Amino acid sequence: MGIRLAGLEMKNPVTVASGTFGFGLEFAELVPLEKLGAITTKTVTIKPRKGNPQPRLMEVENGLVNSIGLQNNGVEYFIENYLPKLKEIKTSLIVNIAGENIEEYEQVARVLSGHSGISAIEVNISCPNVKKGCMVFGKDPAMTKEVISGVRKACRLPLIAKLTPNVEDITVIAKAAVEAGADILSMINTVQHTAAIPGKKQTITGGLSGPAIKPTALKLIKQVRTKLPDIPIIGMGGIMGPDDAKEFFSAGANAIAVGTANFVNPKIVIEIIKSL
Ligand code: FUM
Repeated sequence: MGIRLAGLEMKNPVTVASGTFGFGLEFAELVPLEKLGAITTKTVTIKPRKGNPQPRLMEVENGLVNSIGLQNNGVEYFIENYLPKLKEIKTSLIVNIAGENIEEYEQVARVLSGHSGISAIEVNISCPNVKKGCMVFGKDPAMTKEVISGVRKACRLPLIAKLTPNVEDITVIAKAAVEAGADILSMINTVQHTAAIPGKKQTITGGLSGPAIKPTALKLIKQVRTKLPDIPIIGMGGIMGPDDAKEFFSAGANAIAVGTANFVNPKIVIEIIKSL
């Protein structure tokens, strides 16, 4: 079951999608964390972020809309409060990072790379819920190149570029990320969506995840796999159980990440690993 994606070793090809599993430790009572192929953290930024105003999470048919806005306590808090405990868990650790500009991405990567226990950095160029950075960069091939090459220079850890589906041609962005130094691609982040809030004259605009986006995820993974036959891909987007996971491998993913399903059944990730 063990795999190696560029420089990232995983004891099995199953991780969790950033933002659906806290910083891992929150799930420790429910999930034997050492059984995961890797723990992937919520996004870490250089400074603490309060996130977006409410409402910012709503269940919809076949999915979940979120507009969290990268809430987190900042990289120093992560290093002091999470990293020491995460290091003790005998599995790989992927830290997802973001910034409002390229310098902030580089700073977080530089700070993290000064610490042991991190297996790879996932560069979030795809969150649709912030006005600066993330998807603003990940929709544009030139900006994608700039941010990935900046992070590449700032740290020597394996780099994962997390791609947005909200683009005309994802293969152009994938190529730009790889040319700039990404070792691995993860895809897809959420699909931009607006949903009406029942009983209120209000809507929520954010990123849609869950089964509703699985066909899009499979289609885009296949497109990238066809254009870039050798790049390792971590596939995600609506994996709710073992059968979905197998579909992602068929479409060309080398590993998979379980996301929204964790909110329905936190143990599903272990069930998928056992099934595989
Ligand atoms: O709003 C959020 O925190 C979502 C992050 C993401 O989609 O990467």
